[in-house]
Amino acid sequence: MGGARQRAYLEAIGITAWVARDRAVEAGEEIGAEPVPDPVAADWPQLQAQVAGCARCELSENRTQTVFGVGDPAADWMIVGEAPGAEEDRQGEPFVGRAGQLLNAILRAVGLRREQVFIANILKCRPPQNRDPKSEEVEQCMPYLQRQVELVRPKLIVALGRVAAQNLLGSSEAIGRMRGRVHVFGAAEIPVIVTYHPAYLLRSPLEKRKVWQDMQMALSVAGQVP
Ligand code: URA
Repeated sequence: MGGARQRAYLEAIGITAWVARDRAVEAGEEIGAEPVPDPVAADWPQLQAQVAGCARCELSENRTQTVFGVGDPAADWMIVGEAPGAEEDRQGEPFVGRAGQLLNAILRAVGLRREQVFIANILKCRPPQNRDPKSEEVEQCMPYLQRQVELVRPKLIVALGRVAAQNLLGSSEAIGRMRGRVHVFGAAEIPVIVTYHPAYLLRSPLEKRKVWQDMQMALSVAGQVP
């Protein structure tokens, strides 16, 4: 196919900026491609768009969609989990499966509705077979969560489970040792309370009592005396 005909054909199937393979690098400049956006200065809609289009790690290749987070973007409480599971990947919302039902019940027990808090995860994309996040995935994804925290400016963060707690706090301590004291996150030193992940509570219901204690501590840190 000659140059003009080929271009017409490619345009007809929706490829409007065709260039030869060896010029592909220059093509970005020709069609005015944006540089990879930096979450650092993004506002909320920009951050949502950046996350939706993110291809910083290989998890982007197999996701159905990204899971940005849900709730009140000006919430006093921010809840941080690990990563989307199968149902979250399907629905595009964090904590919508069985663990999510339990999280909603935990929040209700301290007088909070799901809509009143902001719920996010360390990772915005589902790891295959729900494996633990890899450190390079956390490294690529963390700027999004950092910016979310800066924009929400919550009174406190509740970290759900070991993966959330260790990655938020840059710690390798066991979760049992991280519970029971107030940590801080980021330059703004947002208080962080560590508790067990609701998926763990589904397997070990007797531990719910400890989560109740952790939530009492969270209430007092938030200035909502239990
Ligand atoms: N577990 C998590 O850590 N996050 C979700 O969004 C769902 C399950």
